[in-house]
Amino acid sequence: MCGIIGIVSDKGNLKDRVIEGLKRLEYRGYDSAGIALRTEEGLLIRKKKGKVSQLEEELRNLRISSRAAVGHTRWATHGEPNDPNSHPHTDCRGEITLVHNGIIENYLELKEDLRRKGHRFRSQTDSEVVAHLLEEELKEGGSFMEALGRVVRRLEGSFALVVLNSREDALYIARQDSPLVVGLGDGENFVASDIPAFLSWTNRVVFIENGEMGKLTLSSVEIYDFQGRKRDKKPQIINWSLAQAEKGGYKHFMLKEIHEQAKAISDTVGPRIERDSNSVVMEDLPLSPRKIKDILILACGTSYHAGLVGKFYFEELAGIKTDVDYASEFRYRKPVLSPSTLVIAISQSGETADTIGALRKARSLGGKVLAVCNVVGSSITREADAVLYTHAGPEISVASTKAFTTQLSLLYLLAVYLGREVGKIERKEEARLVSGILSLPSRIERMLREEKERIREIGVDISAYTDALYLGRHLNYPIALEGALKLKEISYIHAEGYPAGEMKHGPIALIDENLPTVFIATESKVLDKVRSNMEEIKSRRGKIISLLSGEHPEIEELSDAVIKVPEVDEYLFPIINIIPLQLIAYYAADFLGHDVDQPRNLAKSVTVE
Ligand code: M6R
Repeated sequence: MCGIIGIVSDKGNLKDRVIEGLKRLEYRGYDSAGIALRTEEGLLIRKKKGKVSQLEEELRNLRISSRAAVGHTRWATHGEPNDPNSHPHTDCRGEITLVHNGIIENYLELKEDLRRKGHRFRSQTDSEVVAHLLEEELKEGGSFMEALGRVVRRLEGSFALVVLNSREDALYIARQDSPLVVGLGDGENFVASDIPAFLSWTNRVVFIENGEMGKLTLSSVEIYDFQGRKRDKKPQIINWSLAQAEKGGYKHFMLKEIHEQAKAISDTVGPRIERDSNSVVMEDLPLSPRKIKDILILACGTSYHAGLVGKFYFEELAGIKTDVDYASEFRYRKPVLSPSTLVIAISQSGETADTIGALRKARSLGGKVLAVCNVVGSSITREADAVLYTHAGPEISVASTKAFTTQLSLLYLLAVYLGREVGKIERKEEARLVSGILSLPSRIERMLREEKERIREIGVDISAYTDALYLGRHLNYPIALEGALKLKEISYIHAEGYPAGEMKHGPIALIDENLPTVFIATESKVLDKVRSNMEEIKSRRGKIISLLSGEHPEIEELSDAVIKVPEVDEYLFPIINIIPLQLIAYYAADFLGHDVDQPRNLAKSVTVE
């Protein structure tokens, strides 16, 4: 995964600017960090196990003049996180250095070959071979760019590379299956894994495609394909603001992003509603609604849970049969698709390797792919047949929150639209469903105002347990899965999500006073059944925390703690119900003193298999 940045500039202190950029990329990995600066005396490289702040501390007193620099924050794949394995890596003579995101799959055979030619390796990483390959290719003559072209044509796997050499104030870049975006400044240029890294300096960007490489200097950006043919690239203006990529007074990005959900939902839904009639306006889909016979949703993690809710929406609101598959499983199966299957790939980042792999497989089988994505210009949006963007703004915290609720909102609108187009939903019903989602943001804000303190107490309480169970039925079963995922990924408390009705088929054996159960018990056609499941827990001395809407004294009676959720239409409860569960996880993790935004072993974009 990893975050990489390169800056070529004669303004400001490059060391500090690279560190600033790396901090904005740290969500991509935080096992180690490193920096290389070109100076008149040669390349100066510093790298260190640990977070960017540790590197920053070590370099605090370093005063150095430089006009070209690269930086890296690592999520270890090959080689444990230690100083030698940290990036940047160099060739034998220390004249070429580079940062890499991705995996060079044929690095062992390349390394063996280079060893035979006398190269000495200092790390166990796959990345270091690229520096030595460049050293070797430069002996063959030609320009640095030509040597880079010969190197990248030999690499198998995925890579985003930024290369610096001791002779020029220039950065060389290349991309295959790992993200890379160039920022165009005024007399300075940037390149990074993601836009927030340089957003404080420019919002004019050029997305680098697979199979492209290039050269950045103070005043120019040239992009070529791997054969050396020049590419004409159009810059785009990104309308994310820097404030969106900062904490804005909140203790953590996750807490800020939880609070941004009302606005993110409005921003996602608003532009797709015709206000006079409360009808849904949708962008072009890869298949016209009446041609869609079935839907297949592919995604990972939280986005997969959004897909599970989407299945209810598409089947119940539009009457279209829907399957949901983990992208990592789908890509290695022999799936059956028909030309009338609409494939929906859901991804916040648009860079998840498994989802990209599944999308490619679906397309190779003739499927038409619609991406639901939050990041403009990301790989998934470029490879899909059509895109629906969520407008959540940058999501920095590793634990996904506002991306999830905007994905749900968009899937809901899409289902309403398809339902109308195929004649399952009448105009009046469409207007009712639309007005429901339009009123959701104000209800979310009310709930946050009224219930936050109670939720905080529950989060602190849960932090004392080693395990927790999340139960829900029907539309809220995926919310139980997502609530449990949130708790385990940031608090490290073991949590299971289960359909409440399945509990009696096994998990009930776990119940005693040491296992708290979070019940999603908001209004629904299966609420009576959920209440019976609560009785089963209570009679085994289990502790119950309930999410409740409306007046249900008998449920309150059964519960040790209650969170009140405002009443909304049944289909909208998943979108509001997840928010208290995100906050429970947040407060538990924060109380335990964990690094909420950067939980151990995780990274925001999982760009490896
Ligand atoms: O960017 P994507 O939506 O494709 O990411 C998918 C998962 O990696 C992601 O949702 C992950 O599960 C989050 N850490 C959950 O909070």
